[in-house]
Order: sequence, then C-alpha cells, then structure tokens
Amino acid sequence: MTDSHCHFDPFLDPRDAEQMFRIAESFGSFGTYADEATSDSLGEALPQRFDVGQNYVVRGLDGTRNADPPALSASRTNYFRETYAYGTDLTIPSIGAFMSNNALLASARHMGGSEYVVPAIVYANLLIPGQELAIHTDVPEFRGLSRLNAPQWLLVCMHHSGLFEAWRVPILTCVSWFGNADGGAFTFYPDGADAQRQSVPARHNTAVLLDTDSIFHGVERVTPVAQNLPDITRETRLHFSKGEHWLLRHGEEVRAEYTWDDLRYSISWKGYCFPDSDQHELWLSGTDDLTITDVLCRFEADLSTQGSEPLSQMTPDERATALVGHYISFPAALDASA
Ligand SMILES: [Fe+2]
Repeated sequence: MTDSHCHFDPFLDPRDAEQMFRIAESFGSFGTYADEATSDSLGEALPQRFDVGQNYVVRGLDGTRNADPPALSASRTNYFRETYAYGTDLTIPSIGAFMSNNALLASARHMGGSEYVVPAIVYANLLIPGQELAIHTDVPEFRGLSRLNAPQWLLVCMHHSGLFEAWRVPILTCVSWFGNADGGAFTFYPDGADAQRQSVPARHNTAVLLDTDSIFHGVERVTPVAQNLPDITRETRLHFSKGEHWLLRHGEEVRAEYTWDDLRYSISWKGYCFPDSDQHELWLSGTDDLTITDVLCRFEADLSTQGSEPLSQMTPDERATALVGHYISFPAALDASA
C-alpha cells in the first residue's frame, strides 16, 4: 500500500473470482455507458461528461493529439456497463459478499483513516478490443448533491474547485479485473496531474484501491484483434451468447463476436469514507445539504473575484463550458511529464 493506492494480488479466492464471470453472464446483456450520458437539468444540452469527451477528442489518451475522427473516438470510449448493487439494492444477490469483502473494507478503513466506511455501489465495465477509457476523474458526491439530482460535469467542477470540500463525501474506489484480455492496463496519476503517469496491468483477479474522484485515471487500449472496431452507439448492446461467447448487437444485427478472453472485464466497488461519526450522521440527517442554487452562487462569487464574465449573463451551454474550462485541469501531455 502507498499513500495514494493499494494493490491487491490476488484479490479474491479463485472460486469467487470465477463466479464474477457467471454474474456478468446472468445479466444477459450489457448496455453502453452513454445510455446515461445526457443531461439538461440546468438547461444545457451537453453530454454529462463533456469535460472528458472534449479533452479526449482533441488530445486522446496521451494528452497529445487524437488522430481518430470523432465517430471512431466515440466508439472507442463507448464501453459497456451494468450495475450489480446500489446501496442496499442488490441487483444480483450473490454480489453481497463482494460488496462487504473484509480485506477490501479493512484497506478502505486504513486508507481513509476512518472506521466509517459504507459500501455504496458495485458496477461492472466490459471493454471490447480496440476500446479504451479517456483520462478522467470520477463523479464525486456532496451532501445534498449527487449524480441523481445534479449534472455530472457540475459535480466534477465542484470537487476540482475545492470550494465545496466541507460538503464532500469522500469516496474510495476499488477497481478489480477478471479475465485474460490483452492490453487494457489501468493508467493513472497517483502523485497528481503534474506528476508521472503510472500503469497497473489489468491481470486476472487483481485490484487497486484509490480515490478516483481526485486521481486522474483511464484505461489503455484493449489490444485489437484482426477485425476493425465496429460502430458503437447508444443502442448497441453486448449480449452473452453461450459458453465463452458474447455478441455485439445493434438490434438483431450481429456486428462482432467475442470470447471472454477478448473482453476486458472490470468490477468497481465504491465506498463512502466518512472522516468520523459526526460526518456520517450529518450525511444521514440531510440537515446541511447543498442545493444547485447554492453552488452556482458560490461559483459566481469565486469567478467574479477573478474578473470573469458573470455566469448569469451566459447561456446554459456557455456557463457549463466556462466552469469546466476554469476549474478542471487535465494532466499535461505524456511526453511533457516523462
Ligand atoms: Fe473512472
């Protein structure tokens, strides 16, 4: 374990690790993450994570230059996700033991420096050969505001701004990998966006625990097989077929076929790490919750001290773009930090 992350190798009992494949298969099919990628709750007409998309389309995974046309960039990063557990709602009952894994909870308590660790969510990502995951930080939560009632880009701006730390609910994330796909290493900046980027191979039954809300991270390309990356849109789904086989389907049209050995399969666990019982109680009570109005007023006041145009005089799209541009600083190009 380092100050910034903890590596598990191995992560689970081998039989429990094998069971993770059966859980994915039991879903029947995985939809794309883009399914939940739009929001207009503040009047804006931008994707939920346009902060990540804009940076990736221009600068790619290495922060230098993305030579892919936008449609191919979208297919590369339009990976597949399903939720296994959300709070006490277990989509798959057998995921309960994973959610309260003793070694994981002990490490989270140690890293978070607190006994008040509450498992929050478990979800799975499937990436096909040729896909990768753009550099980003995850969507944080604050008392009163989460992805359930606020745009994801706004929550990310709130954390990066440092203006709302008193309301933030610290979250630790454990990313674990299952299977033998080539490539797809987890790449991250454990020492900060200005420091060296590091990579952890996505080897079967290993995992890493870290603060993905604060540490920029992504996924290196899953090694392509002979076939080209098919077009992947919001309607595309990855269907379990039989045995080891998965079908990439757009409606009834089969666009590609894969085996488990081709797919990068990760399972992410997130847990709230409250600093103490008072913070836990405050979160439960809902007596000191932020509202979006509070947040926009605070941003307006902060920007006004820096001579920026008032947010209230901008269109919703302009306001969102201004906040992302002002508060989120992506890591420098790889060759510049090496
Ligand atoms: Fe992430």
